[in-house]
Amino acid sequence: MTPLLAPSMLASDFANLQAETERLAGSAADWLHCDIMDGRFVPNISFGLPVLEAIRRHAQQPLDVHLMIEQPQLYLDAFRDAGAANITVHYEACTHLHRVIQQIKKLGCRAGVALNPHTPVWVLQDIAPDLDLVCIMSVNPGFGGQAFIPNTLKKVAELKELLVDAGSEALIEVDGGVNLDNALPLVEAGADVLIAGSFVFNSPDPVATLADLRAQLSA
Ligand code: DX5
Ligand code: ZN
Repeated sequence: MTPLLAPSMLASDFANLQAETERLAGSAADWLHCDIMDGRFVPNISFGLPVLEAIRRHAQQPLDVHLMIEQPQLYLDAFRDAGAANITVHYEACTHLHRVIQQIKKLGCRAGVALNPHTPVWVLQDIAPDLDLVCIMSVNPGFGGQAFIPNTLKKVAELKELLVDAGSEALIEVDGGVNLDNALPLVEAGADVLIAGSFVFNSPDPVATLADLRAQLSA
């Protein structure tokens, strides 16, 4: 499939969220990635439900919501109601991951699991057929603008193999430090969705940068 692009709103200008969201309409962005941080699961606080709802009001693309929070099961309905099309929880935050995934699907959202850099892909073996998305963290979650961890390429390839063996159609997302240097190798390793924050929004023209990424992946 053609890889999808999901710019991360974490790196956008929060004082101009309407304009930031609207200018992505008609761009190469397929989904808008929204990072929710609670200051407990990760050592940072980003934004929550009202802000997600505000983005939704101006967005043309589906919202890909990445929950970096403890006890995500308590907030799934609220995030769906605020506009999430995809809800990704962290493997490391869920004792009862299978139940949480079923809850997300029952809400009508795509269900995803994110893995921290230290978590091996094989922990997903038994849940793989139930998943719509797996997000491989290529940085330690909590902050934008960090350097891409090279071991991610190997992990993506391993995950691809695991998903094929399990008969799972889950899409593989890669999140953190994605740029024009690693985009193509990631897709060649098996990535389906590339999430990019600072590389897109810190560039002089985010829409043009998304187009550059798209062009590189379609070449
Ligand atoms: C990190 C977030 C990422 C982040 C990516 O905790 O989950 O989505 O916004 O930002 P960059 O592309 O700057 O690494
Ligand atoms: Zn994210």
